[in-house]
Amino acid sequence: MLTPTSREANFPSLAGKTYLNTAAEGIPPTVVIDALAQYAQDKLLGMDGRVLHEAQWRALKEQTARAYGLTADEIGLCSCSSEAYNLAALALQLTADDEVIITDLDFPAGATPWLQPTCPATVKVWRAREGALRLEDLVALLGPRTRLLQVSLVSFFNGFMIPLPAVLAAVRQHSPALVSVDVTQALGRIPLDLAGVDLIVSSTHKWILGSHGGGLVGVPAARTEEWTVPAGGWFHLQDPFGPESLKKVASKPGAASFSVGMPNYAAVYAANAGLNYVQAVGIQAIDAYARPLVLACLEGLKKLPLELLTPDEPDAIAGILAFRHPEAERIQSVLHPKDIHIMSHAGRLRVAIHGYNTMADIEYFLQALEEALRSG
Ligand SMILES: Cc1ncc(COP(=O)(O)O)c(C=O)c1O
Repeated sequence: MLTPTSREANFPSLAGKTYLNTAAEGIPPTVVIDALAQYAQDKLLGMDGRVLHEAQWRALKEQTARAYGLTADEIGLCSCSSEAYNLAALALQLTADDEVIITDLDFPAGATPWLQPTCPATVKVWRAREGALRLEDLVALLGPRTRLLQVSLVSFFNGFMIPLPAVLAAVRQHSPALVSVDVTQALGRIPLDLAGVDLIVSSTHKWILGSHGGGLVGVPAARTEEWTVPAGGWFHLQDPFGPESLKKVASKPGAASFSVGMPNYAAVYAANAGLNYVQAVGIQAIDAYARPLVLACLEGLKKLPLELLTPDEPDAIAGILAFRHPEAERIQSVLHPKDIHIMSHAGRLRVAIHGYNTMADIEYFLQALEEALRSG
């Protein structure tokens, strides 16, 4: 795990800063900044740089495969989660007979493609109660017409973590639906067991400490048929420049069909370095270290006069806690000048705790928050 020395060396920008906003933006370690500089060097080689870009691309697929519990061939790389979901919607080709279930704790990237007028399916919303998505509410929505359940493993809104194995079991028992899981708020922060998931999506700029502009897509081989994207483009096509190319096109099957154009190689270098970094530190070790910080923060928040939006259920929490207060903007305006960084957005305040945070961060934040509340 990180020591005070390695933390200082790897994250010099965190000196003197209480950074509790990884759920919005991760702070890249120096190796990620070096990787971006390496991308710039390789790009200066022009076309000769492509072989180096491609090596990074393959390495990122291998790293992502390890994290997702898949093989490199089952990983597709695109430019953000939203792109991945729009391509997924294109692949699924839903009809008016189909139903999709989304949740009210999900980020719009995964929830909204199904709500566009071009999607003829009926959308049902699995709604949280007291901040938690309850299985019995899901079961009531499932049926023979359910084609897809879209969920986030960890909610961007309040940090609630779904009980994934139980969710998968309920879906299998009550419907023929595919299960698509957004792991953006989990990957790099908690150990993952994604066995049985039909589509996995993550952005790259949060807990894996990469840059913007990456989307990591997992398509298990058994789901190739469902998730082959019939989009225009070229990078994902089987023969974009062949003699028949203007007569008909065919996408590469499965994961590869999610890379429709020239990859964002800068993001690939950064994500590769970031994922490599968190995996070298050890995601298990990160979680073991950061969990007591999260629980201490939760206990501290419970004592303050604010509305906790995260359920008080330690088994259903990863790295995010959220709360509401009518004076959110004033609270932010007190914390930020003290170099305390939390999120104020979507009607709530959010704290995110990663392996580079310390108990001193939590104590300083809680003390400053208490003072801010008292001075209101
Ligand atoms: C769960 C989740 N998914 C996806 C995203 C981002 O999506 P995109 O990569 O399309 O910007 C976020 C946050 O920005 C998120 O919290």
